[in-house]
Amino acid sequence: LSEDKRKPTKVKFKPIQATDKDDLVLPQGYKYDIVALYGDKINAKGDTFGFNADFTCFLPINGSSEHGLLWVNHEYLGELEYYVTGYDALNADPKNNKRTAEQIEKYLYSLGGSVIEVKKENGQWRLISDSKYGRRVSGLTKHTLTGPAAGSPAVGGTREVIGTFANCSGGVTLWNTILSCEENFDSVVEDTKRKDATHYGWVVEVDPFDPNSTPKKHTALGRFSHENTAMTIAPGGQLVVYMGDDANDQYVYKYVSKGTYKQDAGKANTKLLEEGTLYVANFGKGKWIALDYEKNEALQKAFKSQADVLVNCREAAKVVGATPMDRPEDLEVHPIDGTVFISLTNNSKHGNFYGQVIRLFEEDNNHAAEEFTFEIFAAGGPQSGFAAPDNLAFDSAGNLWVVTDISSSSMNSGIYKTFGNNGLFFIPTSGPDKGIASQFASAPVGAEMTGPWFTPDEKTLFLSVQHPGENLESYAAPTSHWPRGGASIALPGVVAITGF
Ligand code: FEO
Ligand code: CA
Ligand code: CA
Ligand code: CA
Repeated sequence: LSEDKRKPTKVKFKPIQATDKDDLVLPQGYKYDIVALYGDKINAKGDTFGFNADFTCFLPINGSSEHGLLWVNHEYLGELEYYVTGYDALNADPKNNKRTAEQIEKYLYSLGGSVIEVKKENGQWRLISDSKYGRRVSGLTKHTLTGPAAGSPAVGGTREVIGTFANCSGGVTLWNTILSCEENFDSVVEDTKRKDATHYGWVVEVDPFDPNSTPKKHTALGRFSHENTAMTIAPGGQLVVYMGDDANDQYVYKYVSKGTYKQDAGKANTKLLEEGTLYVANFGKGKWIALDYEKNEALQKAFKSQADVLVNCREAAKVVGATPMDRPEDLEVHPIDGTVFISLTNNSKHGNFYGQVIRLFEEDNNHAAEEFTFEIFAAGGPQSGFAAPDNLAFDSAGNLWVVTDISSSSMNSGIYKTFGNNGLFFIPTSGPDKGIASQFASAPVGAEMTGPWFTPDEKTLFLSVQHPGENLESYAAPTSHWPRGGASIALPGVVAITGF
């Protein structure tokens, strides 16, 4: 479909202005329901919703857009750890870790992800607190390793690992499971005195509909600071997963499965994530370079095996000449034309303060292609009104919804003052307003909004409010009281926005 044959999209809401108000601000005619907050009970056993909600995705029950499961990632604690474990992370010496065993257990339990059952009744979304699906996958949960690195010396010879944490964004599979991405695992490994860093930094698969299933970490997708996954199918039937490594000067990857996707095979398609080729992008040459030990002499010189390459992806990507990028955050595939959108959030090392959204065109529109071109689709800055793009979501008309992540320490000061608190922006990808950002939402003080996800009928947008009140000077003087107001302590959680 060429761009001019598509219906141009008009902005249907009255855009809001940047603001530093301590609330989740929406355009007139829209409202939010609080679905789950840190500490809420999620099942009859008494498991509770984790901290710092991030990636959020809705999986319908019986095709409904008003009843389903939400998977929600829980990323990190940071200085807000005090509210979870009682450990004074603000004043502690980071080199002298004095957390007790009990504090470490609370820390690990609060991260990972939650499965919650949600329902809209009488116009209001709510959490079902005794759901049979309600489940925590946390830093204490047993996981299985799959793929080339499972059982290899590169991971200490194990096929079983304990815990997932630093879960940032993610994606859904074509067989109704979710993928959760382990991002900045290093600080958690250090804080919780884990000695096994090679067990983290993977893409984790969870089946939210089977509360007894063991989550899997798919080593074929490589180990780095994974931001998210965007899954699609190539014309030849291979499964393709786009991924970014969110750190200064890290890389963009894609995985192409060896076998082909078969809809009838249902959940057995998970095997496609165990055998395939991991590529890394060279934007100068417009080429995807295979991180394939058997076929690459430079990799054979630098590494011992394919498992070793996968465990040390960053070093392997450097060896094959991949292009360092300005912090690749979310990647998403355009639902109409199949182009791949990539958020580059910023890179202070290069003076890229506002970030960009770039658009990648695979050769012949083939997601398994080894060549591509790209363009800058939208650039952050005072003129465009947004800075530090992070998670992306498309609606079915192909409009891009972008959340921003100006760090809480820079927010509302210096060059970032003009942007106010973090926002959610609407950007058409065709028509007269193509590339122009309109602000739809503004986050509470200190927070970023993460994991935007529409229900299939696009009448509800689920969104996480992560780390409200972060960057405080003392626990006696909180900077956010969202959502309960008064003198309450701010709580991270998930909301459902309606009015579309
Ligand atoms: Fe957890 Fe890349 O943001
Ligand atoms: Ca992110
Ligand atoms: Ca996304
Ligand atoms: Ca971010």
